[in-house]
Amino acid sequence: STPPNPTNEPVLSYAPGSPERSAIRAELERLRDMTVEIPAYIGGDAVYPGSPSSVRVPHDHQHELGTVHQSGANEVEQAIKAAREAKAEWAAMDWTDRAAIFLRAADLIAGPWRHTLNAATMLGQGKNVYQAEIDAACELIDFLRFNVHYADQIYREQPDNSPGVWNQVQYRPLEGFVLAITPFNFTAIQGNLPTAPALMGNTVLWKPASRSVYSAYFLYQILEEAGMPAGVINMLPADEGADVGTPAMASPEFAGLHFTGSKATFDHLWKTVGENLDTYRTYPTIVGETGGKDFIVAHPSAHPAQTATAIVRGSFEYQGQKCSASSRIYLPESLWPTIKEELAEQIESLQVGPPEDLTNFVNAVIDQRAFDEITGYIDRAKASDDAEILFGGDYDDSTGYFINPTVILATDPHYESMEEEIFGPVTTIYVYDDADYEATLDLIDSTSPYALTGAVFAEDRAAIRTTMDHLEHSAGNFYINDKPTGAVVGQQPFGGARKSGTNDKAGSALNLHRWISPRSIKETF
Ligand code: SER
Repeated sequence: STPPNPTNEPVLSYAPGSPERSAIRAELERLRDMTVEIPAYIGGDAVYPGSPSSVRVPHDHQHELGTVHQSGANEVEQAIKAAREAKAEWAAMDWTDRAAIFLRAADLIAGPWRHTLNAATMLGQGKNVYQAEIDAACELIDFLRFNVHYADQIYREQPDNSPGVWNQVQYRPLEGFVLAITPFNFTAIQGNLPTAPALMGNTVLWKPASRSVYSAYFLYQILEEAGMPAGVINMLPADEGADVGTPAMASPEFAGLHFTGSKATFDHLWKTVGENLDTYRTYPTIVGETGGKDFIVAHPSAHPAQTATAIVRGSFEYQGQKCSASSRIYLPESLWPTIKEELAEQIESLQVGPPEDLTNFVNAVIDQRAFDEITGYIDRAKASDDAEILFGGDYDDSTGYFINPTVILATDPHYESMEEEIFGPVTTIYVYDDADYEATLDLIDSTSPYALTGAVFAEDRAAIRTTMDHLEHSAGNFYINDKPTGAVVGQQPFGGARKSGTNDKAGSALNLHRWISPRSIKETF
């Protein structure tokens, strides 16, 4: 019988007086007061290769959470061996036994580990409590549970037989190991990229982002406690990603890449696969999600306050450090004065500061490099003739990497901040002439090489249809009268095409299909 669909993990409110509010406070204090030494995990063992670097709090950069050891070619070699040794038993296991481990991990996160993983995400990645809860708790739990549900559908699918003929499709894992390279901005993605291939019987080398290795460390412990056998997922932290990526991708056993990160890195990895192609036993599976230059367009029939709320939330949640964040906004001249007033009011009410104060909506950006890049865009806008700063524009990195939510108004629709991914709390508005709506849609489509998320605001149904048609290939996740962030597993499968990635929708059957290599068997009687 088919098991029922899983339901999405309910989001806790952290409202004043709630038990989770006091629990998260206590956990934040506990983690702040301890220091951890983060090893590599190879074949189930903690390994300490040396040259540890310091792990710091983005909103309090003098505060050290611990240190992290640096993996290199030697650890990669050991991890490939461990992955090889673990593979046969893991792949031969009844898939439901593998699934039970990941379902247990989901229950551990939903229960005893929830506040630890949330607090680690708040301290290590600078998320407010709500952003941590929808990521490290709910989305990660959903990934783990829904992946099992989709795997069940895949494993059930069998071909027809005919008289005298028995057919079967065997859903084998890939031949070799999968390399998972995970981003700093979502603990959920960090958890999904190694576990989805593992669920399908693969063994994995996992390189967490150096900037989120703190929550990765706890995540590994959760998987271990859930019963993941030694060698199935091997965690290899490294500040220089290439120290792990280069030797891993030079191995003949490299069979798949599960990546989320920047376009520049993905381009480099893809080319590396090409250069090493003769080395490999199999054509590697490449699944990647890169960036976005995500848009919001309002039609003249849009609801102004609703549009303004979407701009604020879509652009400034988690300081705009989501690949889905809106960062180029197209508004009709007729609505501009009203939307501007709404924006002024809403932005004014956003509190900026450390996430330990649970009332702060905007926290620090991830590190000095991000701070410098983002504030560079702000400084250039201040000096430009084609742009002006409407709101925000202030920043301060004396204690933490704080940048006030900033809105740029561009008179040139090709001004740099309308075109380039900034990955920070900066959004740019371009005001178009109401009569030019369709031309604006063409402008949106041709402005960016990315196609991740986008949103249209309109009350006019015909205008929504026209927009959907014009922007058919401009976004893998398209939102009507809603902000373009916060896709929910099982509801809006997430991913983009063009230069945003391979569009294998995270948390869907499509993604899991990429981690298997089916064998068709025909027996004749
Ligand atoms: N899935 C996230 C979102 O929709 C981005 O990775 O915001």
